[in-house]
Amino acid sequence: TPKDIDYVEEIKRLKKEKNAVILAHYYQEPAIQDIADFVGDSLQLSYKAAEVDADLIVFAGVHFMAETAKILNPKKKVILPDFNAGCSLAESCEAKDLKALKDKHPDHIVITYVNTSAEVKAISDICCTSSNAKKIVDSVPLDQPIIFAPDKNLGAWIQKETGREMLLWDGACIVHEAFSIDKLLNTYKEHPTAKIIAHPESEDHILKTAEYIGSTSGLINYAKNSPAKEFIVATEAGILHEMQKEVPDKKLIPAPSHEDNTCACSECPYMKMNTMKKLYLCMEHEMPEVNVPEEIQKKALIPIQRMLEISA
Ligand code: 13P
Ligand code: SF4
Repeated sequence: TPKDIDYVEEIKRLKKEKNAVILAHYYQEPAIQDIADFVGDSLQLSYKAAEVDADLIVFAGVHFMAETAKILNPKKKVILPDFNAGCSLAESCEAKDLKALKDKHPDHIVITYVNTSAEVKAISDICCTSSNAKKIVDSVPLDQPIIFAPDKNLGAWIQKETGREMLLWDGACIVHEAFSIDKLLNTYKEHPTAKIIAHPESEDHILKTAEYIGSTSGLINYAKNSPAKEFIVATEAGILHEMQKEVPDKKLIPAPSHEDNTCACSECPYMKMNTMKKLYLCMEHEMPEVNVPEEIQKKALIPIQRMLEISA
């Protein structure tokens, strides 16, 4: 019966049989991270996806990540455990609406966070992730106006960091917008020697309390290299798995969310749609598969490649 299936063993078997490689984001559940061939942040996963030589790329993350892998490596079959694993940022920005904004501001170039659909990337000039957004914006000549989409929190932080005014899209991540400043300050009172570290998708009042702001891999590295013994971590709670492996002797406290938030304890409901069972099933049946029409794939590749070149 399906109940008796040893998913770890079955996934390992399928990996070999199908010459598959499993790429997983830090927000995936621990068992998925443990069985993946590579775990990383969105930028690292893009570099990895581009160089995969295996026949099958299994992307344990959300849809836009699997789609980016397909755009970068279009000859490979790319599958993901749950086709409905979306992202509130990607959903906030439809290509037709971005196109309308571009038409209103024809002198602006468009920088989009990778958390977008292939159609949106296809009408963008450069992509970015949270680990290279500063560098990407700094690479644009000072007199060149910029539309930055879709994350307004990341955008506002980049504006502060670079001193550049940008036209910001009004999107946000439901997980990072759910952190409660009051609860965070209470947690800090209970752990006064802890360092608060936060992902730049968080709101400004959270970022103001943070000792360090960075991407998921940036946060892990900071916890590793800082002499502090306790950290309050404001990002999706899945990251604590890898972080704790890196700093086994340090105390990691997830930043608290509002009680009435839809995502219990800072978990991304999209990322958490993926389970070991669905990972096994998608590998067994090689579906759902991500496909991108060739015309869109070619156009979307340009801003992604620009990003990879600038941040190399
Ligand atoms: P990074 O891994 O690039 O920090 O992205 C975080 C995120 O929200 C992905 O959905
Ligand atoms: Fe999107 Fe936020 Fe989930 Fe990342 S954590 S996939 S940005 S909703």
